[in-house]
Amino acid sequence: MVEMVMSHEEILKACEDIAMKLKKRLENLNDVPLMICVMKGAINFMVELMLQLKMDVLTDYVQVRSWEGTSSTGEITFKRDVSHRIEGRTLIIVEDIIDSGITMNFLVNHFKQMGAKEIIVVALFDKICKRKVPIKIDFVGKTLNEDKFLVGYGLDYKGLLRNVPYVYVPSKEEIEKWDKMVK
Ligand code: IMP
Ligand code: MG
Repeated sequence: MVEMVMSHEEILKACEDIAMKLKKRLENLNDVPLMICVMKGAINFMVELMLQLKMDVLTDYVQVRSWEGTSSTGEITFKRDVSHRIEGRTLIIVEDIIDSGITMNFLVNHFKQMGAKEIIVVALFDKICKRKVPIKIDFVGKTLNEDKFLVGYGLDYKGLLRNVPYVYVPSKEEIEKWDKMVK
């Protein structure tokens, strides 16, 4: 039995809800917001969210790495920065999951230093029980009170499983199988 965390239908519904709330929040903005996807995990979520957000937005991508297999290393490798101007802009940072908060804390500080006017944080999942650094998340799809390793819909194990349309908790046997596949 698969331990389902969010079905594809639930993910689409969460994206629709968040897009509606985001749109409302951005209503009186007189500049174009910049949506920033935290690669690679947030790619699926970002695409669905920007399709649902029926308003003008700029889009950009950052790539950050902090996880190795099923746990955080606690260290950030910043692999790719945005190409758009940040100064004076309203940003929407789109993340798949916030765990310790170290990645998001790093990104928020980075964009503040670059002169962002306002930063809105959106995450599909919030593993609140794992937080090490406080993070203000503006919009979240689902809050998780238990520490479980998740895969699917962008969330990976060693680069696999990002293309599964739902999110679930893999079994030990599956993880062993993937270990053999990507040795
Ligand atoms: P943090 O810096 O500890 O908050 O980790 C956030 C990053 O870790 C996310 O961008 C994900 O890439 C990754 N991550 C956290 N939890 C999971 C998980 O359960 N499955 C897969 N990746 C995860
Ligand atoms: Mg990530």
